Amino acid sequence: MTPAIQVTGLGKKYGQVHALRGISFEVAQGEFFGLLGPNGAGKSTTLNILAGLTRPSSGIARVMGYDVVGEFRLSRRNLGVVPQEVSTDRLMSIRKTLQVQAGLFGVRKASAWIEELLHRLYLWEHRDKLGHELSGGMKRRLLVAKALVHKPPVVILDEPTAGVDVELRREFWGFIREIHAAGTTILLTTHYLDEAEDGCERIGILGQGRILALEKTSDLLKRHSDRELRLRFDRPLPQIPVSLREFAAELLEGGHVLALRTKGKEDREAFWRRLADLGIAPVDVEVKRPDLEDVFLELTRGRGEQQGRELPV
Ligand SMILES: Nc1ncnc2c1ncn2[C@@H]1O[C@H](COP(=O)(O)OP(=O)(O)O)[C@@H](O)[C@H]1O
Ligand SMILES: [Mg+2]
Repeated sequence: MTPAIQVTGLGKKYGQVHALRGISFEVAQGEFFGLLGPNGAGKSTTLNILAGLTRPSSGIARVMGYDVVGEFRLSRRNLGVVPQEVSTDRLMSIRKTLQVQAGLFGVRKASAWIEELLHRLYLWEHRDKLGHELSGGMKRRLLVAKALVHKPPVVILDEPTAGVDVELRREFWGFIREIHAAGTTILLTTHYLDEAEDGCERIGILGQGRILALEKTSDLLKRHSDRELRLRFDRPLPQIPVSLREFAAELLEGGHVLALRTKGKEDREAFWRRLADLGIAPVDVEVKRPDLEDVFLELTRGRGEQQGRELPV
């Protein structure tokens, strides 16, 4: 099947700034994909190229098989775009904005779907308000409705919940999950890593215009991060056993709790072997699973150092 999104060797320079240094990835039809990275990593540039708002300096980008430059109209028709920058026509009502957008895409008989969108995005009672009368949250939801007016098979969302309160964010995700369940491909950037961890089946991490990781979310979480363990003992340990000191161990609660950190699977196995060799067994073990934030910091931190070394070249 044609990938929903196909990016090959994509590069973008703004003057001397390398926003993208030749990135490649694919998003399958029906997938929920997250593109994450620190500020300035190149996320918006990637989405803007897909949307035909920015021209790539090198490489190819396709939406549903259509080249975003050479076959712009076809690629754009297959794409719903929720941009990072919030902008609305100050003097146009919500409803009118959506009607105009439907017209731009040549959608006939759009009113039933527009009505549904207004309800689903909690805009119905605000439908006659003008752009300048809308709150930040309403403007964001209007942008989502606008993106969906022509029922595109692929939707890209650039930080769609920035500045949206927690309650609305939950409603919003409920809605996005539904359109995804109905078959829509989603490409998302967000700086709320918990959202990406919950929603995205696969994640690409960008740093300084390069892809640092590209994996299923569950694999990314398994592979990369440290674990924090807390072992509780019936009888307190008088001190940290020498063979366990390298695991950044610390004794708490009068020796009843040993807190430590292991790095990766081998490290963890070594730890359990040494504990068995000592002949002591905990009565309780608590493991803090790594979250996306741990993985993200690990990857983007490492990258920063490497980039620094590359600078003189
Ligand atoms: N229109 C532009 N003109 C010049 N530089 C830009 C422009 N847009 C983005 N950049 C630069 O390109 C890099 C990537 O930016 P961007 O794609 O917006 O990152 P992100 O969305 O990940 O925060 C940054 O260094 C940014 O300053
Ligand atoms: Mg951005």
